[in-house]
Amino acid sequence: MFGSDHAGFQLRSHVAEWSREQGHDVLEVGAPDETSYDYPNAADLVAKLVLSQEREFGVLVCGTGIGVCIRANRYRGIRAADCTSEEMAVLARQHNAANVLCLGGRILSKGQAVSILRAFLETPVDTAERHARRVAMLDAEVDH
Ligand code: RB5
Repeated sequence: MFGSDHAGFQLRSHVAEWSREQGHDVLEVGAPDETSYDYPNAADLVAKLVLSQEREFGVLVCGTGIGVCIRANRYRGIRAADCTSEEMAVLARQHNAANVLCLGGRILSKGQAVSILRAFLETPVDTAERHARRVAMLDAEVDH
């Protein structure tokens, strides 16, 4: 499941196409082209679909990856990570059990984005007790 605003449209199209070539069932939501589109709407669509378990992962792209990441993380059970390197993607999966990858269309080259997405998809969650405990803490209600 891939969503973006206008600033992420080009990169989203590229990584979605790459995923199709890998044999994944790809759904694209959000901006239909590079006309201005509010990124929180794309984050809402992706977060809801991942939470409904219709999709295991989501990918969100905006200019920096930051806006979509902030919005997606408003949903309990969504663990969105804005990654700018393969190492971040690997650690986001291993340590944070990230289920949404956020990418910056104005930050990353197409090649970098594909490498980051590949690393994210290929890395399993580390099931060590300390990580599971911390991930449960991430998803717990905040008392404030
Ligand atoms: C749109 O100009 C830009 O603000 C958006 O794509 C994103 O980078 C926000 O975080």
